[in-house]
Amino acid sequence: MVTLSVISILLLFSFTSAGKNDVYEGFTVHGIKLREQSEVTILREVVAILDLDVWSHGAVGLRDAVVMVSKENESKLLDYLDENGIHHYVHLADVVKALDEHDEAVSNWKRRRNGKMVPFEDYPTYEEVKFILTLVVNDYMERLATKYPNLVTLVNAGPSFEGRDVKYLKISTTNFTDSSKPIYFMDATMHSREWVTTPVTLYAMHRLLEDLRSDEHDLLETVDWIIMPIVNPDGYVYTHTDERLWRRTRSYRPEISTCYGVDANRNFNISFNTIGVSSNPCSDIYPGPAPFSEIEAVYIRDIVFEHLDRIQVYLNIHSYGNFILFGFDDLTLPPNAVELHYVGAVMGAAIDTVKLPIAPHYLVGNSAYLLYPVSGSAQDYVQYVGVPYAYTLELPEFLRYDFRVPPEYIEQINIETWRGIAASARASTLFYTRRHNSV
Ligand SMILES: *[C@@H]1O[C@H](CO)[C@@H](O)[C@H](O)[C@H]1NC(C)=O
Ligand SMILES: *[C@@H]1O[C@H](CO)[C@@H](O)[C@H](O)[C@H]1NC(C)=O
Ligand SMILES: *[C@@H]1O[C@H](CO)[C@@H](O)[C@H](O)[C@H]1NC(C)=O
Repeated sequence: MVTLSVISILLLFSFTSAGKNDVYEGFTVHGIKLREQSEVTILREVVAILDLDVWSHGAVGLRDAVVMVSKENESKLLDYLDENGIHHYVHLADVVKALDEHDEAVSNWKRRRNGKMVPFEDYPTYEEVKFILTLVVNDYMERLATKYPNLVTLVNAGPSFEGRDVKYLKISTTNFTDSSKPIYFMDATMHSREWVTTPVTLYAMHRLLEDLRSDEHDLLETVDWIIMPIVNPDGYVYTHTDERLWRRTRSYRPEISTCYGVDANRNFNISFNTIGVSSNPCSDIYPGPAPFSEIEAVYIRDIVFEHLDRIQVYLNIHSYGNFILFGFDDLTLPPNAVELHYVGAVMGAAIDTVKLPIAPHYLVGNSAYLLYPVSGSAQDYVQYVGVPYAYTLELPEFLRYDFRVPPEYIEQINIETWRGIAASARASTLFYTRRHNSV
């Protein structure tokens, strides 16, 4: 036993392998203050010209934008901002160092929690890799399916581009046979670097199955749940092995480009390839050669159509920025925009009541107004095809941690987000019941 943990500690230390983050050599990250809408337009221009990696789009007067730039293009970016009188500051002067420190913090956390770890309080890996103490997302789902055979069905949607299983849990007291129940469908890690999103989905499973509170029986009994913790397993594995900041899928089409992957959240068939995208196949916002070119987006679409008459809420979970966003990105609003805003606001307010004082409040609204118009998003597509409440949830950002959320904060984010999920499930169910009774 002692030997085993010594070995695992050694292995965990080797996880922070030297040089892993060197691919980001010379990159810096800048915060940009947005005082008025015209500055957003200018920022968008320079982002497009220099093909910058946008970490956060910001919101005028409320949230700073955050972008990463290569050494080659840094002075071009800063000159452009200066010429236009836009205020900026250094967020990360050395991306390699910042990521190395984050890797070390994650390793230390795993070491300190040795033996007491649960997948939803960690950044679990997708598959068995080199480390003994690795927590595997699919193992957790299998464990739940075995432990709660009357409530849980583990489904394999099929293989990812590289052949990994894309799995999800269906949780129901009636095995999805009661058509009067609404379905709550959530997914995470469509963008692979947004690690903190997966624990939130695993924690939702935990609360519904392993830790159902006496005042939350209604959530299990009156709602059916579909929970997919990792939409993009290829990208997720790649963030663990090669590039921590990888966002896209890992599809490969040498006839088009030598660059891998597509932004899965631009790949849905709604206003495809029109706004908020790049035609450069190496860009982080490349929408792909055609709608649903990415099998991972197809799986989301197919789940939605399999249960289209009953899915009430679709929650596409991202990180970061404290936003709850809804359609449409062409600045039109769905006919039920008031209810959509209401349920989103209920979710945001529920989270805000228990948020950390250092975290900003949630902002709720139309994604194009609040953030940035994009085409081909999961949120817009799922709303458009008929799900009444489709949201993009951007989990919290605080103390400038961006994607590098220290594992110590996962528990807080899980708990507060679960509150929001529970509140939105109840609020939307109210309308679901009403709508169906009144027809
Ligand atoms: C720098 O900007 C140019 C456009 O001016 C772009 O083509 C290139 O990819 C950028 N380089 C890097 C490393 O981001
Ligand atoms: C639900 O029904 C499906 C299809 O009949 C079956 O494969 C699955 O095992 C059932 N799940 C539970 C939890 O009873
Ligand atoms: C995309 O949507 C359009 C319009 O509804 C439809 O004609 C087309 O077949 C769809 N394409 C794909 C790949 O789903």
